[in-house]
This record gives sequence, C-alpha cells and structure tokens, in this order.
Amino acid sequence: MNILVLNGSPRPNGNTVAMINAFADGAKKVGNDVTVIDVCKKKIAGCLGCEYCHTKGNGDCVQKDDMTEVYLALEKAEMLVLASPIYYWGFTGQLQSAINRMYAVGKPKMLKKSALILSSESPDVYEGAIYGYKNSFPIYMGLEDMGIFTANGDQNKSEEKLSELRAFGETLK
Ligand SMILES: Cc1cc2nc3c(=O)[nH]c(=O)nc-3n(C[C@H](O)[C@H](O)[C@H](O)COP(=O)(O)O)c2cc1C
Repeated sequence: MNILVLNGSPRPNGNTVAMINAFADGAKKVGNDVTVIDVCKKKIAGCLGCEYCHTKGNGDCVQKDDMTEVYLALEKAEMLVLASPIYYWGFTGQLQSAINRMYAVGKPKMLKKSALILSSESPDVYEGAIYGYKNSFPIYMGLEDMGIFTANGDQNKSEEKLSELRAFGETLK
C-alpha cells in the first residue's frame, strides 16, 4: 500500500517525528511504501477560498507553490496519515494549510484509509484535532479510520509508545 504521511511538526528531531519514524519502520517492514512530507519545510500558503479549483481550474489550485508536491503524492496515496503536535488544541498552522488546500481535489481517487498521530505536552487536549480529523477524512471523504495515536508528556519518545506505533504500521497491508 502507498502511505502518505503529512508531518505537521517543524522540529526535525521532535516527538511527532519519533512517532512517524516508528510507524514507518513497521509499515515498511511488511511491504508498504511510506512517503513523509514535512509540510513545515514547504511553502504552502493558506487556501484563498477563490473557488478557482471548482470552476475554471477544474481541480487545479490557482496558487502554484509546494502544495503541488502534496497533490502529486495524494494522487497515488492509498492511505493518508496526518501527524502533528498539538498547537493550541489543534493542528499546527502549516498542516492545517495543507489540509485546507486539499479542498481543490476533493477526495483523491486512490485514497481509502487514514490515521492520525498527535503529540502534546498535556493529556486531554486532543478533542479539537480529532474532531477535525474525523469529520474531514473518515466522514467527509469516506475513508476507513485505521487508528488515532496520541502521546503526551513523558509518553513522548517512550519505548512503549514507539512500539505501539511500530506495531500499528505492521498491521497495514
Ligand atoms: C505554539 C505551541 C502551542 C502549543 N500548544 C499546546 C497545547 O495547546 N497543548 C499541549 O498539551 N501542548 C501544546 N504545545 C506543546 C507541544 O504540543 C508538544 O511539545 C509536542 O510534543 C511537540 O511536538 P514536536 O516535538 O513533534 O514538535 C504547544 C507548543 C507550541 C510550540
């Protein structure tokens, strides 16, 4: 399966990346292709709401920036994993911009499954991000939710948490 991970953390050795790496190790071990796009290293502007994509653009966004790379990866992705630290009870702005720009393509053709990975300092701060994820991907796009994984405080980078992510990756076919 082609798995696309959108990493919303700006920290290259941070807690979210640790979870992504463990997940990717497990998923690759059982034969999946995993592509990680670090959206914070990209120039992805927010959606302009101009509706060019749904009129003259025929599914293409009027803004030509690094979102083009995400659009191309989405065309062949069968599973989408959103991964983000919690910033003020939600996704990072960079990841939210990439999600909003998906408006242009609606539901990518090959996409069937999704999952969510979240890191935070405090516990019980996930409701906003989970609500956004569930309504946008499993419900609005009709994807199968394969799981939601969170790590807060001392759980971040713990062997227990990383094993959980590795094991999850290994279940995917
Ligand atoms: C701008 C900003 C906002 C944050 N907001 C929250 C928050 O609302 N709740 C929380 O528990 N942690 C919050 N944090 C802490 C991060 O979610 C936490 O440190 C996370 O593990 C960072 O992940 P990373 O290492 O992958 O970047 C915030 C951090 C920053 C920089």
